Amino acid sequence: MTESTYIMAIDQGTTSSRAIIFDKKGRHIGSSQKEFTQYFPRESWVEHDANEIWNSVQSVIAGAFIESGIKPTQIAGIGITNQRETTVIWEKDTGRPIYHAVVWQSRQSASIANKLKEDGHQEFFHEKTGLVIDAYFSATKIRWILDHVEGAQERAEKGELMFGTIDSWLVWKLTDGQAHVTDYSNASRTMLFNIHELDWDQEILDLLNIPRVMLPKVTSNSEVYGYTQGYHFYGSEAPISGMAGDQQAALFGQMAFEPGMVKNTYGTGSFIVMNTGEKPQLSKNNLLTTIGYGINGKVYYALEGSIFVAGSSIQWLRDGLQMLQKASDSEDAAKRSTSDDEVYVVPAFVGLGAPYWDQAARGSMFGLTRGTTKEDIIKATLQSIAYQVRDIIDTMQDDTGIQIPVLKVDGGAANNEYLMQFQTDILNVPIQRAGNLETTALGAAFLAGLAVGYWKDTDEIREFYEAGKIFEAEMPEERREKLYTGWKKAVKATQAFE
Ligand code: G3P
Repeated sequence: MTESTYIMAIDQGTTSSRAIIFDKKGRHIGSSQKEFTQYFPRESWVEHDANEIWNSVQSVIAGAFIESGIKPTQIAGIGITNQRETTVIWEKDTGRPIYHAVVWQSRQSASIANKLKEDGHQEFFHEKTGLVIDAYFSATKIRWILDHVEGAQERAEKGELMFGTIDSWLVWKLTDGQAHVTDYSNASRTMLFNIHELDWDQEILDLLNIPRVMLPKVTSNSEVYGYTQGYHFYGSEAPISGMAGDQQAALFGQMAFEPGMVKNTYGTGSFIVMNTGEKPQLSKNNLLTTIGYGINGKVYYALEGSIFVAGSSIQWLRDGLQMLQKASDSEDAAKRSTSDDEVYVVPAFVGLGAPYWDQAARGSMFGLTRGTTKEDIIKATLQSIAYQVRDIIDTMQDDTGIQIPVLKVDGGAANNEYLMQFQTDILNVPIQRAGNLETTALGAAFLAGLAVGYWKDTDEIREFYEAGKIFEAEMPEERREKLYTGWKKAVKATQAFE
């Protein structure tokens, strides 16, 4: 009897790594998760140890096998999805990173980004890459590492160093240096990739003095990139056949295959992505044009609004302010808040992302009275996530002229009923929660399975969509607009305080 086969997704996120095994029907069969260290060497810097990330990935691969009882030889394909933009530079010969991974949230290269803006390069970058100039993207992080590690520029020019986002790093490690690749979705977040020509942009590389030789080969999101070395995959040589940045993987996992479909993932940050079809559409309002995914010779573009701090603001309440025992307690705490006073938290801990793109902004609180309680602050922090999503949805509707009929949501905080109800209330758009909140991992698994013929086409996987709860707005219009006007004022005041 032939053994059943499965697809493994490796989801390497900002705070933890996970491996999840899915079966033919897209069902979760087993998984494992591991957190790793966050380094904050200076105010607003965020770094990871790329080797610790690799170790955590090895450990969750083992954990998923143990939990599911499935053997490594039963894995028909591996899909990798990852925190995007985070930048690793390592030695080609030894595989040793020359510096910590500089995380997408980190502001340590802000002065490089500011200089590019002062020199008037905004249009140049926007037209080529679809992005706004910001320290969020990999380009300035690469420049920063090459500037701060002695001899790095020279070594990079000689071809001794390699750059990769986390997808590249993991494929390189799993194949033991056989493949140095990235995919369209991750490449489109570097600020070095020409999204029209689908190639690294030589003019940008020249401007930033980044040697092309250190960059990975860019591939589609669904094809075989290489095979695991047996000693990294418990004796099996499994094909690595799917790869996508986590937000794009979630778009795929939410089956937002048609233009106009929009998803929001509530993770560390919150990322609203709209499939815009086969032509890139440049935003007039500071949203990002990015690559959704490339599959079977076609490339699908997307518009994205990136919020830097969402779930991490709840972690801040829990770990920093010690107002919560568990993040999920925020739901009951918010429901306990009886105050109608409008307290606003603007969680600009690492600046503000779309549509403000303000690197210098820092967090603030408004509307406090002698009667303000812990619960009011927790509620205001949850609300700040929803207000930021409204900022993006309004901008997206304005940019595209499309009235978004429904927002598909997933990610950890999508479990928070208070947040979901407030979100639909403040948007006045229905919210469809995914039945399976693992959409990021599922998307990577689908991409991997499609490449190896595990699934035939997207029509087959559409059958697996599990719809979850639908939330509908109940808030009176007048209250909605009063609250949102207060939020806009709070953001303005935050920016004025810089
Ligand atoms: O762009 C950053 C994003 O990919 C991080 O996602 O899920 O780790 O917050 P997450």
